[in-house]
Amino acid sequence: MGFLSTLNIDWLSLTALGVVGLLSLLVWRRYFSAISDIPGPFAASFTRLWHMRRILKGDQNLELIRLHAKHGHFVRMSYDEVSVSHPDAIKKILLATLHKANWYKIHALPDYRFQSPMSTTDPKKKVEKSKYIAGAYTISSVVRSEEYIDQVFESFLGWLDRYADEKKPMDLDKFISYATFDVIGEIVFSKQFGFLERGKDVGKAIENSLALNAYVAVAGYFRWINIMLLANPVVTWLSIMPMGHLFDTTKAVLADREKNFNTRHDAIQYWFKQHEQHPDKLTMRKINTQALAAVGAGSDTVAAGIQSFIYHMIRHPDAWRRAHAEVVEAASNGFCKDQIVSYADSQRLTFVQACVKEALRMFGPVPMGLPRIAPKGGLAIGDRTLPEGTIVSVSPWVIHHSKELWGEDARSFNPDRWLSEDSAAKEKYWIPFGAGYGSCPGQNVAKVELAKITATIVRDYNIEFVDEKQTWKWKAYFTVVPNSWPVFIEKVAQQD
Ligand code: HEM
Repeated sequence: MGFLSTLNIDWLSLTALGVVGLLSLLVWRRYFSAISDIPGPFAASFTRLWHMRRILKGDQNLELIRLHAKHGHFVRMSYDEVSVSHPDAIKKILLATLHKANWYKIHALPDYRFQSPMSTTDPKKKVEKSKYIAGAYTISSVVRSEEYIDQVFESFLGWLDRYADEKKPMDLDKFISYATFDVIGEIVFSKQFGFLERGKDVGKAIENSLALNAYVAVAGYFRWINIMLLANPVVTWLSIMPMGHLFDTTKAVLADREKNFNTRHDAIQYWFKQHEQHPDKLTMRKINTQALAAVGAGSDTVAAGIQSFIYHMIRHPDAWRRAHAEVVEAASNGFCKDQIVSYADSQRLTFVQACVKEALRMFGPVPMGLPRIAPKGGLAIGDRTLPEGTIVSVSPWVIHHSKELWGEDARSFNPDRWLSEDSAAKEKYWIPFGAGYGSCPGQNVAKVELAKITATIVRDYNIEFVDEKQTWKWKAYFTVVPNSWPVFIEKVAQQD
């Protein structure tokens, strides 16, 4: 009994000590840390939970825009993180070679052994890793797969035609996702996932990837728990991750291609050749990781971009008419006449390209802030110096919707801003793909897909909302892909 009561007292003392310690830490974070004077939500000043709650709510992008409008260039979004919207933020944070924040380490997929350039936080190591990969994504490399991209888009348009004939409402958002996943399959390893062929989300792979997307966005902040629960060799071996069909297809194709990689030009062929020349630099394991990263990062994002284009163009019928007229005019001069507009011809379409840029500005597929770490000596931006070790992030959404940077109409879809005299100056604030050494390696793939499909759609179709008053729905996790905006499709008569 005596022994037990001593134990009770010890437990009590320990608990009390723990509570006092925790409270002291929270009070220090809130009132005494070097960034305690930076405004933001009260809870954010001492815990990451505020940010995680916002991510899971799915509106972190809009909330951050609102907070910057209220507080100015610096918003404290966690005890150790400051979101920055100053005009110099891109130059000083993304274009400088600052270390990426630890959040990126979650991107070692499917488990911690598979370190990718995305999960590597040291700039030098990341650049070194990317060196043997990036060549697969140059424009000339992507265009070598153009006939296969066209095959996917032809199949996609086949579905549009079917819905046009039947005059039935179409969930276009879903078919756009099927198309972008199948295009990535073609570009990376010459095999589609079969979404378009079957006209459905095979094995609910796309639906499940949304849950994974939400998970990844927050799990970056509790990496060790994630390693214990999911991102470990046992789970990989058991193959019980929810993205089954995407992983399985990728793995099976890679295993097959290892036997005979020289089938046709695609990213895998390029990486296997790099592996032959630099076996210790680009290992087979890294190629696996890279193929999965491309599928994970390069399908939903492009789908969101295509959706944003169509959605905003429907809402701006004048822009749609001008875009249509531009493609028809090009066709009358002998260009843009292929069933799917060629990438080369699409580059003549100044207005359509402006609409694509504006669509990516209005609704960037990546809604999270891009976090880096303030270097030794701190980071001076505007009238502040953020202390060494602070996480400093730049949100493409905040930058793209800043009235200071884009003018009073920052929140309106206005493709003409890209045709005005100061458009070149605005370019440096256009960051849907990020900027600097950490920026999106697959942006050429996205640009080729977007340029081709948008020009073809405005040339060949009219699209209307089933319910004009209905707005789309979306949840902004790591990426943001809209849904629930059914449309009617009408095919435009072909002109010779
Ligand atoms: C409109 C479409 C796309 C957008 C808006 C987009 C945007 C981005 C952004 C903002 C990042 C992170 C930058 C950072 O952390 O600072 C990123 C990374 C990445 N993206 Fe994209 N992306 C798109 C399409 C693609 C495509 C088509 C591919 C593959 C073919 C791809 C592959 C990747 C990969 C592998 C990473 C991680 C890169 C690394 O750190 O090396 N993305 N993307």
